[in-house]
Order: sequence, then structure tokens, then C-alpha cells
Amino acid sequence: MKLIDKLRNKRHLEDYEYEYLLTKLSDNEKAYLFEQARAVAQENFGNKVFIRGLIEFSNYCKNNCYYCGIRRDNEKVERYRLNKEDVLECCQTGYQLGFRTFVLQSGEDDSYRVNEMSDIIRTIRDKYPDCAITLSMGEKDKHTYEQYFHAGANRYLLRHESINEKHYASLHPEGMHIQTRVQCLKDLKEIGFQTGSGIMVGSPKQTTQNLIEDIKFLEELSPEMIGIGPYLPHEDTPFKEEAKGSMDTTLILLAIMRLMHPQALIPSTTALATIDPTGRDQGILAGANVVMPNLSPLTMRKKYQLYNDKACMDDEAAESLDSLNKRLEKIGYTISYDRGDFKGEKDV
Ligand code: 5AD
Repeated sequence: MKLIDKLRNKRHLEDYEYEYLLTKLSDNEKAYLFEQARAVAQENFGNKVFIRGLIEFSNYCKNNCYYCGIRRDNEKVERYRLNKEDVLECCQTGYQLGFRTFVLQSGEDDSYRVNEMSDIIRTIRDKYPDCAITLSMGEKDKHTYEQYFHAGANRYLLRHESINEKHYASLHPEGMHIQTRVQCLKDLKEIGFQTGSGIMVGSPKQTTQNLIEDIKFLEELSPEMIGIGPYLPHEDTPFKEEAKGSMDTTLILLAIMRLMHPQALIPSTTALATIDPTGRDQGILAGANVVMPNLSPLTMRKKYQLYNDKACMDDEAAESLDSLNKRLEKIGYTISYDRGDFKGEKDV
């Protein structure tokens, strides 16, 4: 199909062409899109899928995003915080299982002082010099990001959620601005972090036009990592009645991302695994090349619910790498135990 070939070759389309891909593809055309995305992923990564050990170290959050289950005003959440020893224990378990990337994710929890956080990062860095440290802990000032980078963190995940100012404002309460988010992403890149951004597909009030704006924003930002998952409602949020995002559109957007960003590290997200039992596999078959099994202490996993029924057991659990690998083998892939850093020449 010409449009898909054009995207693969030029890595760029006109707005109406993106619209066609997002809304009008026949089943055959979708199959072709996924096939091309897969081919590009295989050119760059072979049949390997990188794994990242996800450590959800605190579910306290000062923000009140309307979609998120751990928003500040959700009083039903049993809040927890891991201390340094807990985090290190997760790393140790993860390292023994074969993980070479640790993703430290939390709500925006200011109770960890910058020095304290830097100390945790530095300790992991010293103990595991061969591992990558990824942070995913929200908006901070540039100086804080710099301290974390100098302490030894390598990567940072911060989804922009929506580049459209009005749409962003409809997802977040007053006081949160897309401009702040974009500034953070610029700071992270400038400092030298491998930087990840992305969106939820089908978040409330999102239009196809919004998705096209997000595609173009990501084109310009050119992040090393791109996180895309469907929006899923959580029963204790203001958006509890909103419809979940479309799995199909999520897969199409994943494939578009792969064709536009051949070297990017693109996870087949937990939300995708949650929306459909075959979601994780389908994400990989649409061009994703990363999975992020859950390495949080078992008792905490249920407490880190951004949306209902979050998959965190079985193949989403760090302890089940064998079973994950078997599942991957069924679709022609295997786990790569490498660190899996971004290796790309930009804009070639
Ligand atoms: N459904 C899907 N994804 C969500 N996230 C937060 N809440 C939800 C939800 N209800 C995503 C956001 C955030 C990432 C950590 O999880 O995009 O950036």
C-alpha cells in the first residue's frame, strides 16, 4: 500500500494521510502496516525484545490527573513508599533474574528529597555498573534532573499525554500545563538523558486531530523511547465513566511510531496487555520491541493501579521471564538480556 510505503521511506506524511491511517484502514491495510512496522523493528533489533524491570517505588502523588488511579484525591488507595533498602532489594532480585535496566517509577512524591533520591541512584549505579537506570517520576526542575543524571541515571520517561493545550487541560487540573511538560522534556534531552515520551490512546475527548498533533510533536522531539497505550478507566477517578481507548488505534499508532522512529525503544505497554490478553503480543507484532515486567514487591503491585485490572502477574511479572520467553517464542521473538540503549544516528 502506497501510503504505508511512503511512511516507511520518508518517515513523514501529510495530516490527511495520517488521518487515513488512523481512521480508514481496511483489515488488509492494517495487516500490511503491521508487517512493515515489524520489518523495520527487525531490521534494527532482529527478533529480540528488550526487558526492563519496573520498580514502582511510591504511589504517593501530589497531582490530581483526572484519569489516573493514584491521583491525590483518591482516598481509597493504600499508599506506600519503598525506602532505599527496599529498592535495592528489587534491583538485586531483578539483576539475578537477568534484568539490566531498572525503571524507577513513582507518583510525583516530593517526600524523597533530591539528595536522598540521588543517593539511591548512586548506590544502584555503584552496585550495578553494567545496568541502565531509568527514572519515571514526573516533572522536576532542570537542576534536579541534572543531579539525578550525575548520580548515574541514564534515561527518563515522561509522557506528554497530549500536545494540544486544551485537550491537555481537560485531562489535568488547573496548575498543570503542557508547556511545563514540554520544557521538562527539553531539559531532559539537553542534559543527555535518553528521553521517553508518549500518550494514552483514546483518553477522554481526544480527537483524531489531537493524535495527529501528537504524532507531529513526537516527530519534532524525536525521543529515544516512545510509550503508547490505550486509556483505561479507573473506578475511583472523575473519568470512571469514560470509554476505554481502542486497541486497534493503539496498534496503528504503535506501528506509525515504529515507521517514523526506526531506532526508538517502544514498549508493548502494560495497558495494552491489560486491554486484551493477546495485547502484548500484538504490540510486538505491530513494531514494539520492549516489555517492562513488574519487579515491584509483590504486596505493592496491587496498590499501584493507574487503571483497573492492571496486568502485573503472570507474564507481566518479573519472576515469570521463562513464561514470557515462551510466549514470545510463539510469535517468533526471544528476550534480549542486553541493556538495550538507544543506538541511533538521528535524522539520517
Ligand atoms: N489508563 C491508561 N494509562 C494511564 N496512565 C495513567 N493513568 C492511566 C489510565 N487510566 C499512563 C499515563 C502515565 C503513565 C505512567 O501511565 O500516560 O504517563
